[in-house]
Amino acid sequence: MAKLWGGRFKNETDYDAFNFNASLSFDKRLIKEDIEGSIAHSRMLMKCGIIPEEDALSIIEGLQGILIDVENGDLKISPEYEDVHSFVESVLTDRIGEAGKRLHTGRSRNDQVALDMKLYIRNKILSVDSKIFLLEKALFEIIRDNTETFMPGFTHLQKAQPVSLSHHMGAYFEMFIRDRRRLKDIYEGADECPLGSGALAGTTYPLDREFTAKELGFSGGPTRNSMDSVSDRDYLIEFLSALSIIMMHLSRFSEEIIIWNSNEYGFVEIDDRFSTGSSIMPQKKNPDIAELVRGKTGRVYGALMSLLTTMKGLPLAYDKDMQEDKEMAFDAIDTVSDCLKLFTGMVSSMSFNKDIMENSAKRGFTNATDAADYLVKKGMPFRDAHSVIGALVLKCISENRALDDLSPEEWKEGSELFDEDIYDAVSLKTCVENRVTFGAPGSESMKKNIEFYEKYLNEGTLGGEV
Ligand code: ARG
Repeated sequence: MAKLWGGRFKNETDYDAFNFNASLSFDKRLIKEDIEGSIAHSRMLMKCGIIPEEDALSIIEGLQGILIDVENGDLKISPEYEDVHSFVESVLTDRIGEAGKRLHTGRSRNDQVALDMKLYIRNKILSVDSKIFLLEKALFEIIRDNTETFMPGFTHLQKAQPVSLSHHMGAYFEMFIRDRRRLKDIYEGADECPLGSGALAGTTYPLDREFTAKELGFSGGPTRNSMDSVSDRDYLIEFLSALSIIMMHLSRFSEEIIIWNSNEYGFVEIDDRFSTGSSIMPQKKNPDIAELVRGKTGRVYGALMSLLTTMKGLPLAYDKDMQEDKEMAFDAIDTVSDCLKLFTGMVSSMSFNKDIMENSAKRGFTNATDAADYLVKKGMPFRDAHSVIGALVLKCISENRALDDLSPEEWKEGSELFDEDIYDAVSLKTCVENRVTFGAPGSESMKKNIEFYEKYLNEGTLGGEV
């Protein structure tokens, strides 16, 4: 057991208590951020004349060496240390001697861990953002190429009105735009640096907090209240909530893909690379990836609930409960990252059975509203038109036909107002094309959206990649 705080204690920590308290097994993933923060802190201590220049330089060099060795596998993170902070400081002192003991001047693990997490989460926000961006790009191609692929739109999972595949996919595109906007807001909200807040009440050393904030890329400068700084996990809760919403969107999308991929619907076929078989039923091809994405939504929600609950009763400032902010958050981040990656692969390789989709729209009376609107345009009050078409639909249902199959005489039996042009009026193409209000599926209106999406994608990611 290698500890940073033995001086005040007479007895050794109980073995199980040490393990229970230790966080190294999971906070070791913060090592890069921990070292980055320590280097900035050392530079600041040197610049402010708080520690001798040669010590600072040897600390910085030592820290850089530790990171390189850990990354290339020459230095193992062994479990006898309490946490990543203890590990780095102990190894540093073993390697460079006395100077290493000056690293923690004017700092506490409380502001250190607050900083490490913030740096880590900021990077993860950028990484999740770019994964959604790739999904949007894949989705964009489907949207762009399918303005005239007609399909039923549903309400209550009953066929409702015809839309295009482009429009349906556009709905998800909009959700992902909002997801990325949320990530941007959270990133900007987490743009203040907690380093220099000490344990809770700052320090008596003349630290330059502006300097470290700048070194570490926080454009909002240092945080304003040291007690808040060491105990704020709001940005992480916000991130988990954004991740939960992303999963909710992926889960809804998965649910549709599962339904569409079923034998009954047959709208899509998931590529073999993203489906699995059954050990007993030779004919089966299952949408497991989509189901797992839907299923994993639960554990991401769990992480959000867990942290909200952990934080709700904590007195200011730091409490050890906050160490519980890590494991589930890490799990949620990994889960969402994997889901986005797999989902993008699945969506971009999926094939659409356009004929089946179109046929389904035809057979489902999705043009019934348009048939009623036809009568309205010829002067009939909408309520009467609704009832005329309702009766014709009933007739078609009993004869297993579509409205499009009615003969001119049969239309006329419904109302004298029907002419030959009814066939064009209820064709899928007309039904979709005539929906020209902004936001509707008509290709005129979709074209505007496609232009917008193209411009939006050209803006690239939050991290600057296109
Ligand atoms: N492992 C701790 C955490 O994650 C680091 C902070 C420890 N601070 C303390 N006062 N014991 O929260």
